[in-house]
Formats: sequence, C-alpha cells, structure tokens
Amino acid sequence: MSEESSMWAQATQTKSAFTPLTGSDLTVENLPLPASFTWGAATAAYQVEGASNAAGKGPSIWDTYTHLTPSRTNGANADVTCDHYHRVEEDLALMKQLGMETYRFSISWSRVIPLGGRDDPVNEAGIAFYSRLIDTLLAHGIKPSVTLYHWDVPQALYDRYGAFLNTNEFRADFERYARLCFASFGGRVTSWVTFNEPYIISIFGHLNGSLAPGHCAEMGTDTVHEPWRVGHTIILSHASVVQIYANEFQTKQKGEISIVLNGHFYEPWDASSEADIEAARVRLEFYIAWFADPVYLGRDYPAVMREHLGNRLPRFTEQELELLRATCGMNAFYGMNHYSTKFARQLTTTPPPADDWTRNIEESSVNSAGQQIGPASSMPWLRIAPGGFRKLLNWIWDRYRLPILVTENGCPCPGEEDVDVAIDDRFRQRYLGLYLDSISRAIYEDGVSVIGYYAWSLMDNFEWSSGYGPRYGLVHVDFETLKRTPKNSAYYLKETFQERRKQA
Ligand code: BGC
Repeated sequence: MSEESSMWAQATQTKSAFTPLTGSDLTVENLPLPASFTWGAATAAYQVEGASNAAGKGPSIWDTYTHLTPSRTNGANADVTCDHYHRVEEDLALMKQLGMETYRFSISWSRVIPLGGRDDPVNEAGIAFYSRLIDTLLAHGIKPSVTLYHWDVPQALYDRYGAFLNTNEFRADFERYARLCFASFGGRVTSWVTFNEPYIISIFGHLNGSLAPGHCAEMGTDTVHEPWRVGHTIILSHASVVQIYANEFQTKQKGEISIVLNGHFYEPWDASSEADIEAARVRLEFYIAWFADPVYLGRDYPAVMREHLGNRLPRFTEQELELLRATCGMNAFYGMNHYSTKFARQLTTTPPPADDWTRNIEESSVNSAGQQIGPASSMPWLRIAPGGFRKLLNWIWDRYRLPILVTENGCPCPGEEDVDVAIDDRFRQRYLGLYLDSISRAIYEDGVSVIGYYAWSLMDNFEWSSGYGPRYGLVHVDFETLKRTPKNSAYYLKETFQERRKQA
C-alpha cells in the first residue's frame, strides 16, 4: 500500500466508527455545494410511462410479471401508472417550474424494438415518442440523461433464450438496441447510462425472485449459478456498448457514458468484532465491487468473491479482459444510486445455503447493542443514515477515482397516500437535506469529487413488487385522477440548490 493510500485508509478508519444519530445530527445545515453542481430528478420507463401496449409497443418481462396470478406485485400493474407517456408535456413543464436542470429517464426497449432482437423491426412510433420527450426537455433547457436499461427486457428475448442467461445472444441484441438509440437520439443526448443496478437485476431477479423475471429456488431455477451469469452478461454488454459508443458515435456526438451501480454502506454489527469489521468490508465488495472492479478498473472480480464462489463465478476470457481493460477508462463518471446504510454481521453458526450469495453475512438495521442505524422511512430498510452516505462516497472515490454522479437518492414517507400528508413531507425534506450536507462534507472536507444529484423520483410511481404502496416522488400523484401535486420537498430542493450554490 502506498503511503498516500495508507494515510487515506487511516483517515477513513478514524471516521468510520458508528455513532448513533442524536437529535442534533438530524439538523440540516444547508452546507454549500459547488456552483457547477447540477441537479434534477429520475424516473424509469416501466414505473411511470403506462401506455403498456400503445402504438406498437411490445411486452416486457414486467408486463408479464405484473399480470401473474397470484399477484407478485401487491395486486398492482403499471398498465397506466402515471401515464407519463400521454402527459409528458405537462410533466416536463412542471419540472421546469420546479427548477430542475436535468432529467434522468429510461427508454423502454420493447417500445422501440417490440421483439427486442437484432433482426427485429423498429417501432417508429416508439422512436418518435422519445424524440419528442428529448426535444421538449431541450426546449425547456433541461438536460436529458438516458438510461438504456432499467429492468424491462423485451419478453420475446426472455422467451427466446432467457435474456441475461445467454451472454452472447443478449450482448448482440443489446448492442443493436444501443446503436439504434445512439443513432436516433445521440445528436441531442450527451449523457448515457447502459444499465441501472446490475446487482438488483442479478440477485432480486434471479435469486430471491422478488423482481421480474422472478427466478427463485421455489420456482426450481438454478439460483446457485444464475445470478453470477446475469452479472457477467451485464458487465460484458456494458463494456461492448461503451466501446461502440467511443468508436462510432462519441467523436461526433461528444457525450459521456457509464453504468449505474447501487449499494448500501455497511457498518460492523459488533464494532469490537474483527469478523464483523471484515464482514462490512466484504459486503461492500460483494455488492458494489462485483461490478465496479471489472467495469471501472478493467480487472477480474474481487479476490474474496472468487475465493468464496469458486466456479459459480464465470471466468473472463483473455479477450474479454482485454475489452474490460480497453473500456474501463472510457466511463466518464461513477453512477451511484444510494438510499441507506446497514449493519453487517458475520454468521458462523449456520452453514450457508448452497446458493449463499453473501459469504454468510447477514444484514440488519439494528446492531449488537440494539442501536438503530437511523430513523425509518415508510420502508423498514430505508433509514436516514447520512453518515454512511458520506463514508460510501469516500470508499468509492478512494477505490475508483472517478467523479461521482448521484443518479438516485430519496425516500418514501409514512402516510403519503393522503395528499395533505404527502405535501407536508418534512421527513423527506430532512432526509434530502442531510444527504446533501453529506455530499458537501465529502467534497469540501474529504476531497471527493461529486458532480451532480438526481432525486428519486420526479413523482410517485409504480414501486415494483410493492405496487403503489411506497411513494418516493417529489410530486404526489393521485392514481385515480392522475393529478400531480408538488410536495414541499420539491420546493425545498429548488431553494436549497439555489442557496447552497450561492454560498460556495
Ligand atoms: C431503483 C428504482 C426504485 C428505487 C426505490 C432503485 O433501486 O432504481 O427503480 O424505484 O430504487 O426502491
């Protein structure tokens, strides 16, 4: 370890002791942010668009999954959801009014190529929809940031070859889809994300089955190998598309590309236990470095994963490693989705199940002393823990040294179905304020480069397996009338960004 990195390790070590939040830790300080810092809000196609079979759109795995009997999505589907597809002008005008500078949205692959494959026809109506969306954003002075894949693979590709389970087929089809998007929108879009949250696609879609396509042991799928194959497919498909963008489009279009990784920060469950301190480290590697080491450092999976997973973890060929090495430096930023922090505990008593994916490490929101990681939102796992956010920003910067773009952050509050309760969303304002303070501290006190921020989400929407229960929006949506009503946090963000950037 170099002297610099060992000093760094010591510095983060000193900062890393967990202390429970006290009342004063929950006071937002409105700390400064750089003048160049940008902000906006994010959504994903399936969660907001609706119009699930309008104008030639093909079904995605989510259209199938939300219509299963018995329901695996709280009885809900997103056939209509916010109806963003038909109300896009109204929504973008509202964004403008709320002072947002950038909008992160995703393209529905099966809206632009209904069957998804490299030889399948393009749906011009789908291209026209996104074209109009982008033009309207630009007319409002809002910068588009486009995610190619936010969980909704065309159903036809899943039926043909299991989607992510067939690396070569998926990669070839994804390359064609990406080329179509770069060619159609790249003259106007300069910020691209290939995949949203590969960890969730792999583990939640192919191990515990809580998200589409819902593979899990009870369904009889191979949960021992599938998640790691899925991760492998995503990493290689990402690298290919980064290379395609760099070789064929970037010189002319002058845009940037990367991937979005999510992850909690982890504190040891028992701070005096070496095993738990190690567990917190290992958990970060299994969650984040799984993807970030190959993608951003151009190398194999973390050694601790190889050691524990053995042949379950696919091997990169020499040629694939060459691709990773060639493309890692082409990622312009680290796309970071972050919501909360947890405790990590090394289990020793129970033998791990055959499909163990954590090296037998358990996560929880309460530590060995009974202290909670922070106050709970309306999702029990999502707690206010801004200290963990700051530490994770440091961990990422220390390991990957790329400017960090916070591509999602936010929370649902209790009682928000009632619009009056929703508008007065003090819990969310505090959460957002404290997390922005953490960004400020990371920038000015720790020297981390953080360049922008997207709140999740622009508006309440279809929250995957939880249906319309939790509401993450800055704008309340009445799902009966589809009326939009901004919550106070939307105005808070507008003002706080103005103020924080003035002070810097
Ligand atoms: C996803 C969003 C989701 C949000 C809140 C993120 O993991 O990208 O689609 O709605 O978390 O659960």
